[in-house]
Amino acid sequence: MPGPPACCLTPAPHGRAPEPAIHRARGAPCPHVPRSASSSAAPAPSASAARSPTRLAARIEAAGGEPVLLDLAEIQLPLLDEALPPASGVRTQPHSIAWAERITALDAVVFVTPDYNAGYPAALKNAIDYLKAEWVGLPAVVVSYGWAGGAAANAQLSAVLRYIGLDLQGDGVRMAFEQGDFDESMRLVDAAAFVARSEDDLRTAVADLVAAGEAAERAAA
Ligand SMILES: Cc1cc2nc3c(=O)[nH]c(=O)nc-3n(C[C@H](O)[C@H](O)[C@H](O)COP(=O)(O)O)c2cc1C
Repeated sequence: MPGPPACCLTPAPHGRAPEPAIHRARGAPCPHVPRSASSSAAPAPSASAARSPTRLAARIEAAGGEPVLLDLAEIQLPLLDEALPPASGVRTQPHSIAWAERITALDAVVFVTPDYNAGYPAALKNAIDYLKAEWVGLPAVVVSYGWAGGAAANAQLSAVLRYIGLDLQGDGVRMAFEQGDFDESMRLVDAAAFVARSEDDLRTAVADLVAAGEAAERAAA
């Protein structure tokens, strides 16, 4: 039996939606959750920190989780277009129903976000706002990146997730850019090296999250 899957919501390249990579934890492997740790994120034509989702997948797998990348750039949720508020539980649009099913299948979530003007990207907020009960109690961790480690985005997103009722684990991870990380075209020179600088924090956060997912799975059994 595989361990509880880990999930992560991943960042978006410029102009694209953030990519959630999520891990499922409850019950049996979900049919729509690949058992492979490899993420489906397409290479992004951006400086992007991180492509961290794909790099995170291996860390989730190493911690015994089953990573699944939910790439908002691929999922392409429209701006929230349900007539009733998400707390009603009423989902009428096919994309709303599909999104709810994907989140419900997860055991935990790693939200990976860049810092855009002292906040997190609008597409990520939109994806979060589609749902309510599906998020409540879901173990989660926020991984941010930016010049100050994306601290502002991390704080803003963490506050929203706490408000909704996700079960935030720890204090999150902040991956800080340094001078020399980017070339003259503002592209990240060495994404692996950038992510590796946060290796210890990522390993701890992912291990804690996978453990929380396992505990939630046991409690639900
Ligand atoms: C609209 C926009 C606003 C940004 N604002 C900030 C900011 O306030 N703080 C920061 O550290 N970086 C900021 N950045 C830089 C991003 O953190 C950096 O470009 C990062 O690589 C973006 O991630 P992405 O390529 O995955 O979108 C901003 C980038 C964009 C596109």
